[in-house]
Amino acid sequence: MLLELTGLCKSYGKTTVIRDLDLAVKEGEFVGVIGPNGAGKTTLFGLVAGHLACNAGRIALSGRDVTHQRAEQRCRAGIGRTFQIPAPFQSLTVFENVLVAATFGAGLRPAQATALAVSSLQRCGLYSVGDTPAASLSLLQRKRLELARALATQPKLLLLDEVAGGLTDREMAELVALVLALHSEGVTIIWIEHLVHALVPVAQRLVVLTEGTVLADGIPSHVVSDPKVRETYLGAELKFEEEVRPEAAHVVH
Ligand SMILES: Nc1ncnc2c1ncn2[C@@H]1O[C@H](COP(=O)(O)OP(=O)(O)OP(=O)(O)O)[C@@H](O)[C@H]1O
Ligand SMILES: [Mg+2]
Repeated sequence: MLLELTGLCKSYGKTTVIRDLDLAVKEGEFVGVIGPNGAGKTTLFGLVAGHLACNAGRIALSGRDVTHQRAEQRCRAGIGRTFQIPAPFQSLTVFENVLVAATFGAGLRPAQATALAVSSLQRCGLYSVGDTPAASLSLLQRKRLELARALATQPKLLLLDEVAGGLTDREMAELVALVLALHSEGVTIIWIEHLVHALVPVAQRLVVLTEGTVLADGIPSHVVSDPKVRETYLGAELKFEEEVRPEAAHVVH
């Protein structure tokens, strides 16, 4: 198992956000994660990547207990993530931001770090704005920069948190092609997205999170037609009828 979460709990005061959560992800899997606003999705990534500490439970990466490791140690161990709210180093250029990730996240020497930063920018369509200060990027470009920074840490496990919001169909297709390419290169993917129709065709497995626990977990087309999943979203922001197009119900790998 690449990632194994056992009995994970996270509370803020009396508010429990992640509740006794168990989840296991095998090496090479492509897992989509959906759930209503406030379900605990981003918190889960924070716990896995080490930006948040859990109150109880265990996190193992490739069988090694990383529960008490710092975020930078987990990054070196192969956990890369994007942040839902992009937070680049504003005063650095786009290239420098990615170089920092390659140098400190992946732990590469200058020549290798530079090469990896360049290829990460190219893959994310940001090479032409490499010399631009990160502060002047559009939100879309900042989201791409999140992805480029995560790639530059050379992740084994890539955690994507809502990187697709606001994209046109064409940009979405490009993003999906990039993520599928990374997956085919052996990177294990866990992708949180509200755009269910984007995840269903590409994910091998779909996990639904509600109130900090796993409501459903399985083959995407089965999960989205599960009555208890549909019930959870009734009146909420997800309308499966509209979002899951029939032609999207096949897996492309
Ligand atoms: N630092 C914090 N202090 C207190 N409560 C918090 C904190 N961070 C998150 N929460 C609460 O934890 C819950 C889960 O938040 P989280 O951001 O993980 O949800 P999410 O599933 O990612 O939602 P969204 O789909 O809107 O991104 C929410 O109710 C949120 O208000
Ligand atoms: Mg979130």
